[in-house]
Amino acid sequence: MPTVVITGANRGLGLEFVRQYLADGWHTIACVRRPSEALSALEGAGHLTISTFDLVDPAAMAAFAARLGDAPVDVLLNNAGTMGRGSFAEQGLEPFRFGVANAEEWAEVFHLNVFVPMKLAELLVDNVAASEGRRIITLTSMLGSMALNTLGGLYAYRASKAAVNAMMRSMAIDLAPRGIIAAPIHPGWVKTGLGGDRAPLEAPEAVAGVRRVIASLTPENNGQVVSYAGEAMPW
Ligand SMILES: NC(=O)c1ccc[n+]([C@@H]2O[C@H](COP(=O)([O-])OP(=O)(O)OC[C@H]3O[C@@H](n4cnc5c(N)ncnc54)[C@H](OP(=O)(O)O)[C@@H]3O)[C@@H](O)[C@H]2O)c1
Repeated sequence: MPTVVITGANRGLGLEFVRQYLADGWHTIACVRRPSEALSALEGAGHLTISTFDLVDPAAMAAFAARLGDAPVDVLLNNAGTMGRGSFAEQGLEPFRFGVANAEEWAEVFHLNVFVPMKLAELLVDNVAASEGRRIITLTSMLGSMALNTLGGLYAYRASKAAVNAMMRSMAIDLAPRGIIAAPIHPGWVKTGLGGDRAPLEAPEAVAGVRRVIASLTPENNGQVVSYAGEAMPW
């Protein structure tokens, strides 16, 4: 039975990843800081392990890795992410405009979106290398693309996802000798707490697409930015 580790698995895309991997018969390890009713309701729907800890607590992350021991992890899926303290869904670009940059908020966004996937990859790399799947995935965004930025704004989030792309590129190069594929995948613009109601995609469709891409990645894709539809995206 393959194993997937999913962060931010209590709602949004993370919860849908849990549903779909469970339905497919995977041992699904859901990392959350607060289990939701929707996640708890999936216990019994398959081989689900809920691991409750705050990703931004380094000691808690290390303890999670220690609990895993040497268990193989086929897919490490870094899904948890944040835009910052405002709500794009409710307030649009206003909280993310030029003129309101805040050091604490930038640190929070970079810590969760960039540092946590990096550190978790370091902590679990032996588990991933010991698996059949050998994939480390971090969800990125088209908002991190230089070429696709025609609207401006969203400074911390855009910068963090551009950093994710740079980080995953290095990881792809460094871990290729161990047979690991590392890639940033854009899930599309999806109706979630982060994406808001105006998003064109529903979570089941986006997640099914991302899962297809994860399954079909080859060493040739290593380090590329790929969309949920399987298309290479510009940096
Ligand atoms: N939705 C889109 O349109 C879209 C587009 C491109 C990329 N993405 C990316 O897809 C990923 C998932 O986004 P989503 O749309 O599902 O967002 P979401 O509905 O806002 O969910 C975000 C998840 O991250 C978790 N999280 C936030 N801060 C955390 C922390 N400090 N420690 C642990 N977990 C934390 C949240 O847990 P809590 O419930 O505990 O806060 C939640 O599970 C993100 O990386 C996002 O950047 C989304």
